[in-house]
Amino acid sequence: MPKKDTAVSSLTLEDMRRTVSQSGLRHIAFIMDGNGRWARRRALPREAGHSVGTKTFKKTVTLCRDYGITTVTTYAFSTENWKRPEKEISEIMRLLDVYIKEAEDDNEKNKIRYIFLGEKSRLGDELREKCEYLENLTKDNTLVLNIALNYGGRDEIVRTVNKLIAEGKKEITEDDISANLFTRLSPDPDLIVRTGGEYRLSNFLMWQSAYSELYFTDCLWPDYNETELRRAIVEFSKRQRRFGGV
Ligand code: FPP
Repeated sequence: MPKKDTAVSSLTLEDMRRTVSQSGLRHIAFIMDGNGRWARRRALPREAGHSVGTKTFKKTVTLCRDYGITTVTTYAFSTENWKRPEKEISEIMRLLDVYIKEAEDDNEKNKIRYIFLGEKSRLGDELREKCEYLENLTKDNTLVLNIALNYGGRDEIVRTVNKLIAEGKKEITEDDISANLFTRLSPDPDLIVRTGGEYRLSNFLMWQSAYSELYFTDCLWPDYNETELRRAIVEFSKRQRRFGGV
């Protein structure tokens, strides 16, 4: 269970907004790990962890927005996650379907711009069309929410390079790659948070994470809460980012 932390809990919303603004935290990304373990510890099917995890994600996005963060990215389903049992995959897709419907209904209130990262064709026509509809419906909103779905970082780089070759490029620059990734509309993530106690990126944002600060917590994703988020942001604000300089 997440620990109570009086130091961060006593910060006001204004304190958090100031911390975000002064630290230059524009883009936060989440690897939402631990849903399965959270469910197993309660003798529930793994899908129950994903269901609670989806609610946790919605609350986390709202908090990020309240704090003034302008881009949020999450790893909802990787290119490797297709190896999971059929029942679990279809429940994650169902949760995404419900999430997209709610995002459409709440568009006027939330003003979030949804962007799906990953190759949509494997999702099937129905879900692909719903993703594209939501992207188009929300394209003028300013808070960007990237949802990585059928996403793999290496796959993204290979696709991008092949696209540039097909366009006739003979020499490829870093800017060419950045400008053609699924994330081309977002700055690179300043902070990547991974829950669930594993210390790796698991093929998430391989190109974009070159200078991201990484933050790991043992907290399982369904338990993730405001104290945990504040702790990550405050820790980020203390890091010295040199981007290779001195
Ligand atoms: C990782 O935990 C979680 C996933 C691979 C799926 C996350 C998907 C959702 C929360 C549902 C839909 C998402 C959105 C944004 C609406 P795990 O299953 O690997 O956990 P474990 O390591 O404990 O087994």
